[in-house]
Amino acid sequence: MLRLILLSLWVTVSLAMKSYEGYKVLRIDVSDAGDVAILQELQDVAELDFWDFPRDLMVPPTLLEFVEHYLTSNDILYYVWMDDVQAKIDGVITSNKPRTDVDGFDYYVYHNYSEIMDWIDSIVATYPDLATSFSIGLSHEGRDLKTLKIGLETGKLKRAIWFNGAIHAREWVSPATVMWMTNAFLSNVTEGTNPDVTFVMEFFDMYILPVMNPDGYEYSWTDERLWRKTRTLHPGDECYGTDLNRNFDYEWGGLGASNDSCDNTYRGPEALSEVETQAVVNFIRQQSQEQPFRLFIDYHSYTQVMLSSWGYTYDLPVDFDLMEAHMKVQTAAITSVFGANYTYGAASSTLYPSAGGSKDWGYGDRGIPYSYTLELRDMGEYGFLLPEDQIYPTAYENYVGLVAGLIHISHQ
Ligand SMILES: *[C@@H]1O[C@H](CO)[C@@H](O)[C@H](O)[C@H]1NC(C)=O
Ligand SMILES: *[C@@H]1O[C@H](CO)[C@@H](O)[C@H](O)[C@H]1NC(C)=O
Ligand SMILES: *[C@@H]1O[C@H](CO)[C@@H](O)[C@H](O)[C@H]1NC(C)=O
Ligand SMILES: *[C@@H]1O[C@H](CO)[C@@H](O)[C@H](O)[C@H]1NC(C)=O
Ligand SMILES: [Zn+2]
Repeated sequence: MLRLILLSLWVTVSLAMKSYEGYKVLRIDVSDAGDVAILQELQDVAELDFWDFPRDLMVPPTLLEFVEHYLTSNDILYYVWMDDVQAKIDGVITSNKPRTDVDGFDYYVYHNYSEIMDWIDSIVATYPDLATSFSIGLSHEGRDLKTLKIGLETGKLKRAIWFNGAIHAREWVSPATVMWMTNAFLSNVTEGTNPDVTFVMEFFDMYILPVMNPDGYEYSWTDERLWRKTRTLHPGDECYGTDLNRNFDYEWGGLGASNDSCDNTYRGPEALSEVETQAVVNFIRQQSQEQPFRLFIDYHSYTQVMLSSWGYTYDLPVDFDLMEAHMKVQTAAITSVFGANYTYGAASSTLYPSAGGSKDWGYGDRGIPYSYTLELRDMGEYGFLLPEDQIYPTAYENYVGLVAGLIHISHQ
């Protein structure tokens, strides 16, 4: 009887989730700008989803023949990288252990939105002298944008830094990394064994938003594992969701930002149409009147690359030399831990243009000199479906990188 009930429960739960059975991820061999232009057209086909434009493309079974024909007839080579996306999804969460163990928080599994909010409360309870939390606003569906401030009180004016996770819902290793690093700062400074960490905690106040897109993140747990955007439906729009990382009000609406609500890079009907971008913009604008922000990092996955401005144009920013020197230090420190290859560069030329992104806003609007997108692991073996046993190496190497980068900029 119990078996039967459990079984029907399982069926109910799995029916609610979108199935990616038979979906494939193709890896495309892009040889020149002509190929990119041809692949660009596929971005406008509903149901096709570039995990990493223009290289990794997820294709539902119904469109496989069409896509294969399109690529072949354009002489573009590809191969099937992931044969069955649903099988990969099922493989990621294998552990049946409780998501929060008795000894405290388990950093080595993925956590849903409500667990992350409870974690924030427990961090503040554990480190009352070092950490406070507050909400910078509500998401479209009414979830708190709960933010942490951590640092050592020195009685002096401190510089500020910002980092956030989960602006894109499906990039689950991003909030996991942000949480691990936050805890590492706090536990290391409490133990007092790492002078570099003590130094940066005295020098900087850190403002940390683990989940910038709570509605999308929750949706990626309950409905569609590979959801990316917010969950708004604007008047006149056909599809749900705006890409928060195209919605900031600096050079909004330019290259690499779609005006079609059904696209994954939809910029929204206007700059700051989303309450989540409004909340971050308002908070940093206000707080930067009290203390200067020096660093802004928006953590994403995947491809292992650190990207500076500009995203909206191929031109390099006037401060690119400073940014480049810093990115070199931070990525070299990341690599020093486990040898993982992280590259760096200006976003447009390294990756692709993306107007209205967070890092352009941080640098262009706020004048934060070190303002980045940081793409975490992996290089595309699992993509967004990174196994939980890679949370630790991803978080640890990035913590070492962040500390080294902060030491570097404290001398600037
Ligand atoms: C999130 O986790 C909590 C605690 O483990 C659980 O009670 C809740 O049902 C989960 N919510 C979702 C959407 O998975
Ligand atoms: C810093 O904290 C992390 C996470 O708790 C821990 O793994 C690491 O050993 C600590 N390092 C030092 C030097 O205390
Ligand atoms: C959206 O962009 C396309 C291509 O750039 C353009 O042809 C179209 O007119 C735009 N639509 C709207 C509503 O702005
Ligand atoms: C790191 O990645 C870059 C870009 O993909 C590549 O050019 C370089 O050869 C790689 N380096 C190593 C050591 O694998
Ligand atoms: Zn992303």
